[in-house]
Amino acid sequence: MSPLPLGSFLCGLCVLRGENLSGGYTMKRICVVGTGYVGLVTGACLADFGNVVICVDVDAGKIEELRKGQLPIYEPGLSDLVQRNVNRGRLSFSTEIPFAIQSSEILFIAVGTPARPDGGVDLSYVMRVAETIADYMEDYKVIVNKSTVSVGTGAEIERIIRAKQKEPVAFDVVSNPEFLREGSAIEDFMRPNRVVIGARTQQAFDTMADVYRALYMIETPVILTDIETAEMTKYASNAFLATKISFINEIAHICEHCGADVQMVARGMGLDQRIGPKFLRAGGGYGGSCFPKDVSGLIHMAKDAGIEATILRAVVDTNERQKRLMLEKLEHLMGDFEGKTVGILGLSFKPDTDDIRESPSLTIIRGVLEGGGRVKTFDPTAVEPTRKLFPDIEYCDDSYSTLQDADAAVLMTEWNEFRNLDLPRIKKEMNTANFLDCRNMYDPGEMEALGFRYMGVGRGTTKKQ
Ligand SMILES: NC(=O)c1ccc[n+]([C@@H]2O[C@H](COP(=O)([O-])OP(=O)(O)OC[C@H]3O[C@@H](n4cnc5c(N)ncnc54)[C@H](O)[C@@H]3O)[C@@H](O)[C@H]2O)c1
Repeated sequence: MSPLPLGSFLCGLCVLRGENLSGGYTMKRICVVGTGYVGLVTGACLADFGNVVICVDVDAGKIEELRKGQLPIYEPGLSDLVQRNVNRGRLSFSTEIPFAIQSSEILFIAVGTPARPDGGVDLSYVMRVAETIADYMEDYKVIVNKSTVSVGTGAEIERIIRAKQKEPVAFDVVSNPEFLREGSAIEDFMRPNRVVIGARTQQAFDTMADVYRALYMIETPVILTDIETAEMTKYASNAFLATKISFINEIAHICEHCGADVQMVARGMGLDQRIGPKFLRAGGGYGGSCFPKDVSGLIHMAKDAGIEATILRAVVDTNERQKRLMLEKLEHLMGDFEGKTVGILGLSFKPDTDDIRESPSLTIIRGVLEGGGRVKTFDPTAVEPTRKLFPDIEYCDDSYSTLQDADAAVLMTEWNEFRNLDLPRIKKEMNTANFLDCRNMYDPGEMEALGFRYMGVGRGTTKKQ
């Protein structure tokens, strides 16, 4: 556990292959504290790699459901993965956090880090876990932080544990940020573009190499670095992706006023290998549990350092404007909302998840209701979480009942089942054939030929639309 000088041979990029391993591998006993999206996926995947994993949570109801085989989230393939590993005895769920800490060598922290009201990062859940670990650890542990935390949190965890331990017990803190995407979380965990590991000792790096041994076969690039750099890598990645989205949304806005088609512009840009095609889809603005809070967290980190994060502020402002623009487009199509019905297709912030946190659909629902309109909606997975926020809107069983008698259709989420709608039937069954396509899934010319008043995002002039 001797500290390594930074910049030593361990810092840098390494591609994991069998020959890089220190020998003597045995399966690891792992505890994952926090069984939410990241904790559950991490626990199930690490168990599938052959480790013995116990996932713990303070939410007794969630653990009870998991023990009965019911998952608290929708994620493709996760249910089967959990069941398989539970059946093989490698994965279990518990609220007995002290026991789980004491019986594991490696403790992953995967609790939430929501935004504080001032936009900074709320680290209280992470710090509470650090205190609990200090209270119960009896021998050497590697404490791996998977939560997205502001730079300096790893060092603060070290300080808290040292200060709170009754007897000094050795430990290492590791930063191992998670890059999975909701909707493809298992694939992202099992076949990541990269793994980032920040640590201070050889023993901690060796332990992490054992944890991720299953990734050696697929030659996953691994960044070995210090804790602070690993923490920043996560924020910089999410902030860059959010920047790409706001950038193309701003280009879309300009396209609308000068007669260009943002779909073709993005294609033309994306084929340049320096730019790349991903995250260049104009739409209704980004949402979800990560981008909004992580961009605002990074802005606050910069502010604390006396730096004005000018690009990041513009990213946030552009995103807020984009959400408002969608509502304005809808109003433009309908005149006003008073006494009219809007059918919204899609509630989750993206397909293949039931996550509605910061979803642009919520801005549309609020705006229509405030304007005196009525909302009908359908989403393949996200109805129940939305019902908690909006108990009084109408939830339908499919796209067609949602749009029946509606005065406008709003396509918000790129679910596959919205790609091939029976448009003539919808046109016939709607009260007024207004169609706002916030995902540019349909062709403006074809929609107009079918008799819709159609609006996409960034496609031609506002006059033309
Ligand atoms: N969701 C994503 O797509 C994603 C992707 C990458 C990184 N992250 C980051 O991972 C972290 C977790 O995110 P999430 O989406 O999984 O959150 P989540 O809200 O789904 O889950 C957090 C869980 O932690 C539990 N918890 C809170 N305090 C606890 C404690 N003291 N002991 C035990 N359990 C406790 C909660 O009950 C909850 O079940 C966040 O920092 C997030 O930014 C999330």
